[in-house]
Order: sequence, then structure tokens, then C-alpha cells
Amino acid sequence: MKSLNTRVAIIGAGPSGLLLGQLLATRGIDNIVLEKETGDYVLGRIRAGILEHGFVDLLREAGCGHRLDAEGEIHDGFDIYVNGETHYIHLRELTGGTTVVCYGQVEITHDLMDAREAAGLVSYYEALDVQPHDVLSDHPRVSFRHQGEEYEIACDFVAGCDGYHGVARQSIPESERTEHHTAYPFGWLGLLSDTPPVSKELIYCKHERGFALASRRSAERSRYYVQVPLTDRVEDWSDEAFWDEFRTRLPPEAAERLITGPSIEKSIAPMRSFICEPLQYGNLFLVGDAGHIVPATGAKGLNLAASDVAALFQVLARVYEAGDRYCVPRYSEIALRRVWHGVRFSRWLTGMLHRFDTETTGDLPSEIYSRFKQSELEYFLASEAGRRVIAEQYVGLPYETL
Ligand code: FAD
Ligand code: DHB
Repeated sequence: MKSLNTRVAIIGAGPSGLLLGQLLATRGIDNIVLEKETGDYVLGRIRAGILEHGFVDLLREAGCGHRLDAEGEIHDGFDIYVNGETHYIHLRELTGGTTVVCYGQVEITHDLMDAREAAGLVSYYEALDVQPHDVLSDHPRVSFRHQGEEYEIACDFVAGCDGYHGVARQSIPESERTEHHTAYPFGWLGLLSDTPPVSKELIYCKHERGFALASRRSAERSRYYVQVPLTDRVEDWSDEAFWDEFRTRLPPEAAERLITGPSIEKSIAPMRSFICEPLQYGNLFLVGDAGHIVPATGAKGLNLAASDVAALFQVLARVYEAGDRYCVPRYSEIALRRVWHGVRFSRWLTGMLHRFDTETTGDLPSEIYSRFKQSELEYFLASEAGRRVIAEQYVGLPYETL
């Protein structure tokens, strides 16, 4: 067996794990990343695209903001289309100058991977059977297999950045964690295509046939979504069927501009929320999707992963720079406060913008629930105060400091 040593063992080379690794490296805090897939596989996952300003600042702090600053698109706002009318949520004006940046998760992961390699930091891709041990002690270990060899890392902390299906959360005894789950009976069918996007900024559409979102990755690449029942399978949706449905749900002037083309990727993401409490067990921390999932509306998933990283980075920097270990238990509390806000906001937007055939909440049948949600949306869009409530949360609530 090969023995390794580091300060922080990071499980998962998604955006959470790689960003944490880079930030720690800026303060000279040694870390090793363990990823079960290949780098190409990780880069093949098409996911998020809208970044809060706090995340952008964090990427810059990690020394990974150059391409983002050059190629990322600043979006001043977005449209909400409902009842045949388009309402502009002017993020910049409503929040006193804050905006979001459109830059794909794949590009972020690429930049973080390149930076990690350039800095000569240690990563093991295709690391199998990763398993944390003794995380309640001051001497945790992580074992894994790589290219037929057994390895063990001795470390101070383990960061579980390994997504919803990872090993980190499962290694916390069930009696020591609570999992809160909710699920909608629908998902988003997403299509990526190399076609000029229908709009310079995003359009969230509420249509009687269901929700649709026109998003983008660049001037040449579109990312579009339509709400579909969870019973639909992606194989049942030809590109033509997607384009027809998407066009129907767009505002007419956007539908006229729509340029279609072959899909590069097509998948259905279920709409659900999940929070694990607490987000730590001794010296093991859960970061990003390992600890929580949000419904996609509002683009909070990746952004909450980033705010977890910010909280954990502060804690670990304090441990190593000030010798203060008392701050360690505060990670979960700080990260969770923002996570609950994110899940609440995403559910709120989902409720107002989607079609509900079967949702019942408490004593409300779907017809009444839908009418309340419609009235809520109209109320919030009609007033500047209402639009500000949406804008403030969309650009991202402030990060908490220790
Ligand atoms: P992940 O990106 O899941 O990374 C975890 C990494 O850990 C993976 O590389 C995985 O291979 C690795 N891993 C897992 N198990 C192990 C193990 N046992 N050992 C070692 N490594 C392991 N968010 C948005 O904001 N907007 C969107 O449009 C959006 N779309 C999404 C679509 C889909 C289909 C999904 C699944 C998510 C989407 N999200 C979206 C959410 C967003 O992509 C995630 O919040 C983000 O990827 C979280 O990053 P992460 O690093 O925490 O987890
Ligand atoms: C995207 C996804 C979202 O959930 C959202 O609210 C906005 C944009 C996207 O993938 O581009």
C-alpha cells in the first residue's frame, strides 16, 4: 500500500472540489483531489451556466478568472414572459449595480483543471473505492485504489465534494444526519445546440403548456429547456419535437427569430430539492451537491456549491493561519443558512413559473394552487419592490463571513 500525506483530502473533481483545491493552494494549504471518473468524462457533463457575482469573485481569487473575464457575458437582467407580456427584471438597476455572468460550468471546470495542472497540484483521476476513515479523530484517512495499487492518505480534513451520488455523505452514519427531500412530478428537458441564441439575455417563459427557458452559453451556442412530465424519456423527444414545443412556448417575436439546428446534448433533469443536515461530521465536510440539490429554476445549484466552498475556505484558512480550530464546527451552520435561502428561492420561482397538473400542497388542490401562484407572479412583477425581491435573490445573497 502506498502512503500519502496532505492537509485536506478532497473527494470529487467537479467545480466544488477543484475550486476549493485552488483556493487552498493560494494560501499554501496542501491538498489532494480524488476523482472517480476521467477528466474528459467530467468535462463532458453539460450543466449550469449563470454565475452569481460572489462566485465570479471567488474564481478570480483562486487565480482562475482570466478567461471568464475575457469570454463570460455580463447579463444586466432577464425577461419573464407571462400572459403574453414580457417583463424585464433589470438586475443592475434593481440591485444598485449587481449583475450575473453567463459562462458555462464546463468552461469553469476546464479553467480550474488547467490551473491545478499548471500549479503541479496532486490529483488522482479514476480513483476507485474512495473511502474516508476516522473522521471524528484528528487524524482522518482516505483510502482508494488507483491503477491497481492501494493508497491511503493521512490528512487533517476531508472535503466531500463528490456530488449527490458520492461516498462522503453515505459515510456519515444515518443516525447523525437528516435528509430533507421534495420532488416535483416534472423535469426540464434541456437541449444544447451550436445555433445563435434567440436572445442576448435569458427569457423565462410561463406558458399554458408549461415552462420554457431560453438560455445561452455564447453568441454561437444556445441552451434551451422545456418543462416535461417525469414520465417522459429523452429518447421520445426528437430534436424536431423539442424545437416545435420550445417555439410554441416562446414570446411570438422570439419564436420568429428562433434558429434551430442539431442537438449536441439532450437530457432530462428532474426538478427536486434535497438538503442534508448538518453538512459536516467531525472533520468531514459536505460541499455542493454532496449536501444539497435545488430545483433548477433560478440557477442556484452551482452557485450554492460556490458559497459552500467560500465558507469552508474561510474556516480552513483560519485553522491554518490563526491556529483557531474552534471555528471548524461553524462550517455547516454558515453554509446551510445560504442553502436554505437558495432552496426556498428556487422553489418559489419554480412554483410561479411552471404548470401544475398534480401538485397539491397541504389542503390546496392543483387548480387553486396554480391560481395562487399565477396571482403571486402577477403581483410581484407589477411592482418595483416585487421585481427587486426577485432580482436581489437572483444575483445572489451576500456570503457570510466568519
Ligand atoms: P458535481 O459537479 O456533481 O461533482 C462531483 C464530482 O465527484 C464528480 O466529478 C463525480 O464524478 C465525483 N465523484 C462522485 N462520487 C465519487 C467517489 N465516490 N469518489 C471520487 N469521486 C466521486 N445548476 C445550475 O445552477 N444550473 C443548471 O442548469 C444546472 N443543470 C444541471 C443539470 C444536471 C443534469 C445536474 C445533475 C445538475 C445541474 N445543475 C445545475 C447543478 C450543478 O451542475 C451542480 O450544482 C454542480 O455540478 C455542483 O458541483 P459539485 O462539484 O458540488 O458536484
Ligand atoms: C440555466 C439554468 C437555469 O436553471 C437557470 O435558471 C438559468 C440558466 C442554464 O443552464 O443556462
